[in-house]
Amino acid sequence: MATVRLEEIARRFNNVTAIENISFEVPDGQFWVLVGPSGCGKSTILRTIAGLEAATSGRLYIGDRLVNQVPARQRDVAMVFQNYALYPHMSVAENLAFGLKMRNTDPKTIQSRIEAVARSLDIAHLLDRKPRQLSGGQQQRVALGRAIARQPQVFLLDEPLSNLDAKLRDETRAELKQLHQRVCNTTIYVTHDQVEAMTLADQIVVLDRGHVQQIGDPQTIYAQPANQMVATFLGSPPMNLLAATYDGAAFRIEAQTIPCPDRLRPALRSAQGQRVNLGIRPEQIHLSDADAHLKAEVTIVEPLGREILVRAVVPTAELPAPILNIQLAPELRPRVGDRLSLRLNLDQLFVFDPTTGDRLNR
Ligand SMILES: Nc1ncnc2c1ncn2[C@@H]1O[C@H](COP(=O)(O)OP(=O)(O)O)[C@@H](O)[C@H]1O
Ligand SMILES: [Mg+2]
Repeated sequence: MATVRLEEIARRFNNVTAIENISFEVPDGQFWVLVGPSGCGKSTILRTIAGLEAATSGRLYIGDRLVNQVPARQRDVAMVFQNYALYPHMSVAENLAFGLKMRNTDPKTIQSRIEAVARSLDIAHLLDRKPRQLSGGQQQRVALGRAIARQPQVFLLDEPLSNLDAKLRDETRAELKQLHQRVCNTTIYVTHDQVEAMTLADQIVVLDRGHVQQIGDPQTIYAQPANQMVATFLGSPPMNLLAATYDGAAFRIEAQTIPCPDRLRPALRSAQGQRVNLGIRPEQIHLSDADAHLKAEVTIVEPLGREILVRAVVPTAELPAPILNIQLAPELRPRVGDRLSLRLNLDQLFVFDPTTGDRLNR
């Protein structure tokens, strides 16, 4: 096993900068997730670590070894792609054995590794089949198995679950987590899916437009987002943003007023008289007739069984009027057109600079 360390890695394609100034270190045996919107540079980072792409600048270490100039084959990493890339003319067993054969592993070892991997991924009954005789989920497990059988120092997974249907994705995600608990390979996993990031990661690296936005464990990323991008990317429905004016004591949204908690005031001194974006998560908004902060009108009601999601518009003269996502207990039965009196949990209020997106209440 090994650590993976990136120091100021950049990758440019002619005049396109795919990634810039990427630095992080994945400790031996940990499971890290790179997450961000499509095009933010996730695959480029993974391909650079694998050696399928050369960094334009920066240094890349696997263990203590500088590997910028080391060809992919000699890096002892295994990568699993979104499109399984199995060899169609080979059986499942031959696919699983392929990487080991290429490295001249002795046949006995190959046999025992294939059996162990097939058992742990529940594909032992499929060993004689060809990939076209498998379902998507089974093919993906063979692709994972082929990488696992090699017992690489580092595991790289690029959106490996995104071709699976929802149920299978949940199951395979849990299997992956269990597998890592057993094998403990250093793993770097790429996804645009925030649920996968939250559920799988020891540490999450949030990326946007080729830059690292924040690195932290899932709970910290959720509870202490560094900026507006991170705050609105993780969480479903996302954190609400409300444009407001700060007057030194309260936030004003036209005629409506949200008091500024004392704990926020020192950090907001320079924002006095300025526009800010308030951030509040859907589960931190409650119905309250007494001491409400905001009035809003229900536009959409989505019952989900365990909870009800409500979308409500805050009436403002300035358009577009802000829309709030609100998560309510299922026994409350709001209807479209209802006017709600809302109280925000001010302990969980975030304040962002609307220009830079930086969080002001750090
Ligand atoms: N071979 C390439 N040539 C030119 N631009 C590329 C190439 N590969 C990736 N890019 C660009 O780099 C950026 C990051 O791409 P990518 O790493 O694939 O993002 P992600 O995996 O997060 O969706 C995108 O803007 C993409 O268009
Ligand atoms: Mg990608």
